[in-house]
Amino acid sequence: MGRLNMALDPSKTGREAETLESSLRKLIVGQDEAIQQIVNIYQMNLTGMSAPGRPIGNFLFLGPTGSGKTRIVEATAEALLKNPRAVIKIDCAEFQHSHEIAKLIGSPPGYLGHRETHPLLSQEVINQHHTDTMKISFVLFDEIEKASDALWNLLLGILDKGTLTLGDNRKVDFSRALIFMTSNLGAAEMSALVSPKLGFRGAEPKEAGTGPQDEKLNAKVAKSGVEAARRKFTPEFMNRLDKVVVFKPLGDAELKRILDIELNMVQQRIFNSSPDRAFIFHASDTAKQYLLREGTDVKYGARHLKRAIERLLVQPMSNLIATEQVRAGDWLKIDFGAAPEHLIFLKEAEGLPIRTMAELVDNSITLPVQTMVNGAPFETPRTQSAKNSRRG
Ligand SMILES: Nc1ncnc2c1ncn2[C@@H]1O[C@H](COP(=O)(O)OP(=O)(O)OP(=O)(O)O)[C@@H](O)[C@H]1O
Ligand SMILES: [Mg+2]
Repeated sequence: MGRLNMALDPSKTGREAETLESSLRKLIVGQDEAIQQIVNIYQMNLTGMSAPGRPIGNFLFLGPTGSGKTRIVEATAEALLKNPRAVIKIDCAEFQHSHEIAKLIGSPPGYLGHRETHPLLSQEVINQHHTDTMKISFVLFDEIEKASDALWNLLLGILDKGTLTLGDNRKVDFSRALIFMTSNLGAAEMSALVSPKLGFRGAEPKEAGTGPQDEKLNAKVAKSGVEAARRKFTPEFMNRLDKVVVFKPLGDAELKRILDIELNMVQQRIFNSSPDRAFIFHASDTAKQYLLREGTDVKYGARHLKRAIERLLVQPMSNLIATEQVRAGDWLKIDFGAAPEHLIFLKEAEGLPIRTMAELVDNSITLPVQTMVNGAPFETPRTQSAKNSRRG
């Protein structure tokens, strides 16, 4: 046996972790640190290197509202379980009193209502989204700073031992769960650091975290977030966390990319909901700016973006479908009209074969299985020019 002395690269991840990372990067904008931490923990789980007798990972997500804390959990569930709704959400503010804790763990035998209560955190509930190949649960505790002492103790047990004891003494095993906790704690101080005047990132469109200045600022913001958490939460809680991630306030460039992702999801919905009525749309820059003005702001990040898209784009579009003004194979252009501000819907083309439509939409969209050519799902060469011509 010769000595090899070969340098190895521990920063490289395996293929499955890489797939998760690239899926998350398509859905989550500007929160690379959070993506990295989730991927690292997943990689440890895949290789069996997670600490035994604990959840797979315990994460605390801090940072401003509408910055993607909840979305990244849903996106991870979407990537691993193919279901963004496979997340068990506990809103800590709703479990302030002891009878409310019973909703989570059930009441002890003999207590009134013992038989009727189905604890929200039973093993069946925790495991309900497991698939044949993926046995991971996603549990999200929102607004943990609002948790009562009783809930807090329960949480500490889960984080530390990966088990929870129900009212009737049954044990629930969390060792196959990823535990996420979110809090807006310290968000105000963090925003003030980022832009003391606006309480938000500057208006000039640029990528976050690119220059050395940005990195310094990001580190400072992250530090202030973690310090706020240390002031509020006990050391025994902080010590049980695998990772504290401070989400960054989103700037204009990030919000614009999020809008594109959301518009893609609407396009995907059109393809999925009625393959035989599929049409495509693209929004002009001014239309997008209008949607951004209506759906995002300094205080709420991207929180209201979806709602603005539903109200201003999806609802009118569904009227157009219902009245058959829009039919299968149509190509809609969405433009902006002033005074009063509104969206304009124009039919650019009609009778497009599904193949052509597929070429015109973003390549992240998967066509429904029903969309077959000669009995086989078709693949189209998605050229750069086709992608560029989209949404204009
Ligand atoms: N970084 C991001 N990448 C992609 N989409 C985002 C991002 N941040 C926000 N969004 C969009 O905005 C919506 C609201 O974000 P989300 O629910 O994740 O906010 P949050 O950080 O959990 O806020 P809160 O603290 O109020 O719960 C998401 O559903 C998503 O559509
Ligand atoms: Mg949230």
